[in-house]
Amino acid sequence: MSTRVTFAFIAIALIFGLGACATPGAAYVPGTYVGVGKGHGGELKVAVTVSPRQILKIEVLSNDETAVLGDSAFEELSRRVIAANSAEVEVVSGASSSSEGFLAAVSAALAQAGFKGGAAKAAAAVRAPAKAYDVIVVGGGGAGLSAANEAALAGASVVVFEKMGVLGGNTVRATGGMNAAGTKHQAARGIADSPELFFKDTMKGGYDKNDPALVKILSEKAVESLDWIESMGGDLSDVSRSGGASVNRIHLPAGGSKAGPEIVKTLKKAAEAKSGIAVFTEAKVLEILVDKAGAARGVRVAIGGREHSVAAKAVVLAAGGFGANEEMLVRLNPALKGFATTNHSGATGDGILLAEKIGAALVDMKEIQTHPTYAPGKEMVTEAVRGNGAILVDHKGLRFGNEMRTRDVVSAAILGLPEKTAYLVFDTSVRKSLKAIEDYVKMGIVVEAASPAELAAKIGVDPAALAATIERYNGFVAAKADADFARPDMPRALSVGPYHAIEVTPAVHHTMGGVKIDTATRVVSTKGTPIPGLFAAGEVTGGVHGGNRLGGNALADIVTFGRIAGKNAAALAKK
Ligand code: FAD
Ligand code: SIN
Repeated sequence: MSTRVTFAFIAIALIFGLGACATPGAAYVPGTYVGVGKGHGGELKVAVTVSPRQILKIEVLSNDETAVLGDSAFEELSRRVIAANSAEVEVVSGASSSSEGFLAAVSAALAQAGFKGGAAKAAAAVRAPAKAYDVIVVGGGGAGLSAANEAALAGASVVVFEKMGVLGGNTVRATGGMNAAGTKHQAARGIADSPELFFKDTMKGGYDKNDPALVKILSEKAVESLDWIESMGGDLSDVSRSGGASVNRIHLPAGGSKAGPEIVKTLKKAAEAKSGIAVFTEAKVLEILVDKAGAARGVRVAIGGREHSVAAKAVVLAAGGFGANEEMLVRLNPALKGFATTNHSGATGDGILLAEKIGAALVDMKEIQTHPTYAPGKEMVTEAVRGNGAILVDHKGLRFGNEMRTRDVVSAAILGLPEKTAYLVFDTSVRKSLKAIEDYVKMGIVVEAASPAELAAKIGVDPAALAATIERYNGFVAAKADADFARPDMPRALSVGPYHAIEVTPAVHHTMGGVKIDTATRVVSTKGTPIPGLFAAGEVTGGVHGGNRLGGNALADIVTFGRIAGKNAAALAKK
């Protein structure tokens, strides 16, 4: 993947002690220089334009990181580098390895410009929020940005406080897609689906622990949420299968690119196009302020080392889950000790704890999901790889179950193997069907070989066994029936070389529990009544997913309930 983004800012830094270059006293030989760095997702190439004394412009020429982070991290880093006139700036929190790759690329370009070091850093200007807004949104992931967009559309003044250096939270990591039933994309493929079937699958997947009133809204409104994202320029036109779904229902960009970056990019662009939304990153909300009657009236937020009390007529909590808070995870489920997580480091459950402090009821807190296919120490491998045709084999080269069961069941099956890891095995036709796989290749987690036997030898599995497993599976595909494990959907035979394998193991992925909400997204107190002025949406809430979330249902949840929260918060503010 390749993107071309330019960040140019007015340079205001003071320069001291500059090394000698072509112009006497200059830091750089003027011109444009290309530098290369290595980030989280692969290579990063930038062009840096300099005058004798100043970094003027940074252009991202090619970038394997965008799929993971969006352009936000590079935009923020470019601002910092140009303001400081130096590549020695703080990395963006939540995007540290990408930041390091970017800054290494800028340093390499500056070295070519003759820079010998010594440019002074300017103190970054820290913005302060206004004293009051109509609506405060806590968290700049998909739920928060959906809420902010809707609240602003309804005429409210809105501020988003995001504690990390970039927007996106877990949403920007989302890969496999967003569920919706009855979409035009399903219709174009002849897929018969309905809100009723979506409801049934979701309740069954959640072991009927879900709040049916919330699931009804999810299953009926997700199609509108998808249309809304597409009306703002997003693309969710591809359709695949996820575990526990009766039909192909999970939507992702054409060609199988990652869904989360597409959604975050779309919501961010829409928010930037509106005048009524102020966004603060590295702005951590510390407290929800309440009046004497217990109504939410604002927040205390820390920005750049200073604390501010900011008033609002309504507060929307959209601070995500706690999949990266090991202490909280293990306290709720000791069996999770030592598990890795697929989550971003900011998923620490702050929103749940802040709401609990002012009397919010919590539901399903012990319901924590693992994702079965995490490449150890690296990256979650999307369920769409299986949805598009991959099989799972053990270390003997044998399948050990229907790959499309719900993720709790597949996770348990992998953890039941002696090695506690398995191999995802697929061919080149699966690889071609899903652009997301190219990111895994760039990360170095994919083993590739010309034939099944050669692949087996490379991963230490019996070659004859793996070749026989693939041949048998291909027979099931041709017969349209899996005689071994009754896998319901086998979209393609694995017959096009080269063949591929990724070693996988379960990792903590989703926290289904959280703040209790009603159908209007009002936060419900321990007394059973709504807390006035406080709304919540997304992974910070509990109830939508019950005992187990189906793949694709979180993106549907955060956009659908984020929109409801934004509209209702604005309506309250305008009363
Ligand atoms: P987030 O997107 O996590 O946003 C919450 C934001 O709040 C974060 O940016 C966080 O930094 C911020 N925040 C937290 N505390 C504070 C504070 N005190 N002050 C200010 N800000 C704060 N679901 C699907 O349906 N389909 C998928 O394909 C999919 N793939 C996934 C892949 C991965 C690797 C992961 C981790 C999850 C995936 N999920 C997927 C789940 C889904 O992405 C999340 O459940 C969903 O995006 C959560 O959205 P959110 O807006 O509620 O939270
Ligand atoms: C994935 O792409 O496998 C994750 C999907 C999800 O969490 O819903």
